Amino acid sequence: QELQGHVSIILMGATGDLAKKYLWQALFQLYLDEAGKGHSFSFHGAALTAPKQGQELMTKALESLSCPQDMTHSQCVELKGQFLRLSQYRQLKTAEDYRTLSKDIEAQVQREGLREAGRIFYFSVPPFAYADIARNINSSCRPGPGTWLRVVLEKPFGHDHLSAQQLATELGSFFQEEEMYRVDHYLGKQAVAQILPFRDQNRQVLDRLWNRHHVERVEVIMKETVDAEGRTSFYEEYGVIRDTLQNHLTEILTLVAMELPREVNSSEAVLQHKLQAFRALRGLQRGSAVVGQYQTYSGQVRRELQKPDDFHSLTPTFAAVLVHVDNLRWEGVPFILMSGKALDERVGYVRVLFKNRAFCVQGERHGTSEQNPCLPRQVIFYIGHGELGHPAILVSRNLFRPALPTQSWTEVQDRPGLHLFGRPLSEYYAYRPVREQDAYSILLSHIFHRRKESFITTENLLASWVFWTPLLDSLDREVPRIYPGGAENGHLLDFEFSGGQLSFSQQQPEQLVPGPGS
Ligand code: BG6
Repeated sequence: QELQGHVSIILMGATGDLAKKYLWQALFQLYLDEAGKGHSFSFHGAALTAPKQGQELMTKALESLSCPQDMTHSQCVELKGQFLRLSQYRQLKTAEDYRTLSKDIEAQVQREGLREAGRIFYFSVPPFAYADIARNINSSCRPGPGTWLRVVLEKPFGHDHLSAQQLATELGSFFQEEEMYRVDHYLGKQAVAQILPFRDQNRQVLDRLWNRHHVERVEVIMKETVDAEGRTSFYEEYGVIRDTLQNHLTEILTLVAMELPREVNSSEAVLQHKLQAFRALRGLQRGSAVVGQYQTYSGQVRRELQKPDDFHSLTPTFAAVLVHVDNLRWEGVPFILMSGKALDERVGYVRVLFKNRAFCVQGERHGTSEQNPCLPRQVIFYIGHGELGHPAILVSRNLFRPALPTQSWTEVQDRPGLHLFGRPLSEYYAYRPVREQDAYSILLSHIFHRRKESFITTENLLASWVFWTPLLDSLDREVPRIYPGGAENGHLLDFEFSGGQLSFSQQQPEQLVPGPGS
């Protein structure tokens, strides 16, 4: 019943980058998916910009909306028109502006003979603006009794444990926990969102395999080719560990490592089990990580932030971290998290590599991949990009044949010549989504359907910061390994691990110094 009635979605920061790139499109998708099911919608783009200019900017952002491929041109024009008529800009600055918004929504609902179901406020604004907006919503724009309120928050959620706690306490004074949806957009990536369902659907086989007896190591990797140009003021404050490891990669790690609840559709059970996984992460030492910085980074910082000529930044743009999960299931299994900017390729994946227990004398040369126990055996959640170019789930044919929901995942056509993780594609059972969907569209649908397991609770957030903060503190004065950006000399970042320590395999070449960043 809750889903019926009128839903108002207020997108704060409606003319910003994230809104232009993803959020309007995701709202349009939500409208396409849900409008026919007994809900009515209104979309309010909001920002501090004055009404006329704001409306112009928002109209521009809405021009680039696209329709699903299977829709005809005329259907598309019709539905876009409907969506545009339901979307309007408003300036939200003062408490009075929020009161007016609330009154306008109530008046519209009454005028159209509807019942208000709830309001979603999407904070696509920098965190320093959170408190003011939260106060205004709480005091002047809550919907009436019998309705719901959801607020959607974007990272960064603090800078370390203390600041995250302060921000959480502040937000907690305005909103209930159940009202807050903290977004980690990697949780909306299709391959990531499939980790728990995959574990659930293949429970019978994985019950035996998903543990320290069978898993050699787990890699959670996010490589990017872009650098931090144009974002150095953000990057100087955060660096790669806060930007991607503390959130995206740790979230993924916990999905792999957590105990599987009996009911994977229960938000509460998933979040509780995930929290236990966060709490089982063994404390990191300085030696658990290696950090690097692409050569032109300091130069970019000098230029963008007007620093003196002799300024050298210590901010890492690359990090690899060796993590252990301290419980019986995972004792001794290395989890390697790695992420960096200006690397040789853009790719993201989680790779669970299994142990080979057979004696393999010339084993690689014999047998088909289904039978040969000597070939590497792995499960890979391929998040996207890279050589494959789309999300996928790959399981070595000599491991097991996985079950996947056939209505949403389909087999990948073989591409002769394509090798992934050292083996031809044909040696994997490989699946891809029938329809590729953007992470934000998936997450907005989950917000709408109150699927809280795809979001970060206050407890989980703070547990993650408890884990990361000591390492971040100890890295404060560490000089990162300088690496040339792009494909050259990528091996300078190769690392080894033993005894709970990570180290670069190569010496830092003398000629590699922080570059001019021209
Ligand atoms: C963001 C980071 O969270 O994720 C960026 O702040 C990074 O630095 C981005 O580039 C990557 O996301 P995607 O979806 O492009 O892989």
